[in-house]
Amino acid sequence: MKRFFFLAVVFSTLAFTISRPTVSNFIFTTVNDVPDLPDDPFDYSDITFPAHLLNAENDTIDLGYEGGGIDSLSFAGITDQGATLGRVLFYDKKLSSLETMSCATCHNQAMSFAENKAVSDGLTAPTLRNSMHLNDIAWTNKEHFFWDMSESDLKTMIRIPLTDENEIGVDMDDIAQKLNATSYYPQLFTDAFGDATITEDRIAEALVQFISSMNTFNSRFDQEAENGFAGFTSQEQLGLELFSTNCNNCHSQGGHVIFGDFFPPPGFPILEFAPFIFNNGLPEDPEDAGAGNWDPAFANLFKIPTLRNIDLTAPYMHDGRFETLEEVVNHYSDEVEANEWTGEIIPPEGFGFTDTEKEALVAFMETLTDESFLTNPIWSDPFGLETNLENFHIENLVIRPNPTRDIAVIEYDNPGQKIVTFHIFAADGKLVLNEQTRSDQYTLDKGIFQPGTYFIEVLMDDRKSTAKLMVQ
Ligand code: HEC
Ligand code: HEC
Repeated sequence: MKRFFFLAVVFSTLAFTISRPTVSNFIFTTVNDVPDLPDDPFDYSDITFPAHLLNAENDTIDLGYEGGGIDSLSFAGITDQGATLGRVLFYDKKLSSLETMSCATCHNQAMSFAENKAVSDGLTAPTLRNSMHLNDIAWTNKEHFFWDMSESDLKTMIRIPLTDENEIGVDMDDIAQKLNATSYYPQLFTDAFGDATITEDRIAEALVQFISSMNTFNSRFDQEAENGFAGFTSQEQLGLELFSTNCNNCHSQGGHVIFGDFFPPPGFPILEFAPFIFNNGLPEDPEDAGAGNWDPAFANLFKIPTLRNIDLTAPYMHDGRFETLEEVVNHYSDEVEANEWTGEIIPPEGFGFTDTEKEALVAFMETLTDESFLTNPIWSDPFGLETNLENFHIENLVIRPNPTRDIAVIEYDNPGQKIVTFHIFAADGKLVLNEQTRSDQYTLDKGIFQPGTYFIEVLMDDRKSTAKLMVQ
């Protein structure tokens, strides 16, 4: 497969009304790859629930977290083509403002779509909190998103990382043009939605479908649950027992029948969303009030994440304070700071586990790992299967448009002040620009272009980057 480093620069001039001054808008895309997709879409929509998670009596009623079992309606909206589009969007750096980041930058499949850092590097600043794993969120805690539970609808929620200037930073006014300029999005949107129209709503919808399809139904825990945990070691069985009695009040894993329903003990604060978010006796975080950010009455409450695949998503807690599951268990055992919320669910002095019990709890949590999830191609990166050609590209080439001055600056590494040649060809093949420089940047002036499509070739020694430029 040939892999070009395409740069498509779209200069568009938008004149809304006669009185409004003409606004030039530079949009550039670094189309460095085309996704490698199967001829027939992967099967995202046919989801088989493990029998032990099925709620046979009531599975057509939206049960949310309560009741016993999984709510199949959580998956009703998933189509194979919609999730395929979502997969491409999830991994496509082209969406981000400087084309350096995708959802997958902070949500890595090998870590169950979390990241192995306490906080993630945003575009301009570290993120406030620890990146969250994305497995099983469509059904385990499906109306409560982010650590502070500030969003209750996944589709609305997804617009936040999508447009946050510190994360993907999509400019929704430009994105349709930018994605339209690729060879693959018009067809992917048509397959998913019936026509090629690109809207924010469709982007969010496709991402929701993709993320909702991410489920870990193939852990040892799931396999063993089918036969009464007979295959668990005695240590894992002890862990299961300790978990069911001490942890499951809060981490009830989607109204899991095996773990029973949540019955608030006497004196339990009445919270309509318990046990979705709570406080687990961590020291109060002066930097972060959790749900207190949107309602002071809920200060210091944080989302109770599902513990499926928890062994893979270190570090732990909203601030990534614990590196290992052993440290987490030590916290619950010996380091709890009682407060108005922990009440009787967590003893004021902590659970006081023995070493054997601590090891058993960790061993139990390890049974919640679904290895197949980490390598399943349906959730894998469709871009960049061949990386060796990278060596032939000009290093660190980026385009920084400056809309207020009608220019775009092409920057690249050139420490040896080598000769760099810029060729620009019109669509009919005619050479319209041939310039050389020893600098590490080159300025394109919109003034020299008639509307139309152009090809840019940048040459340095034996390296070459090609680019597509659209002037509107
Ligand atoms: C710069 C890193 C970064 C990028 C890029 C990023 N995220 Fe996140 N994501 C986070 C962090 C950090 C959180 C937790 C935020 C919080 O609670 O304040 C999070 C939380 C989430 C959640 C909530 C999960 C839950 O259990 O509540 C979802 C869903 C999500 N991200 C999806 C996405 C999608 C889709 C994209 C791409 C459009 C994306 N993220 C891009 C860092 C990132
Ligand atoms: C009172 C409710 C409650 C109980 C009981 C409870 N937890 Fe938690 N758990 C939480 C909350 C809330 C968080 C998130 C806290 C935060 O980040 O501030 C959490 C987080 C975690 C995490 C980290 C999740 C992640 O994605 O980073 C692990 C692991 C965990 N708990 C394990 C346990 C174990 C093991 C037990 C039993 C010994 C237990 N929990 C008991 C409420 C509880």
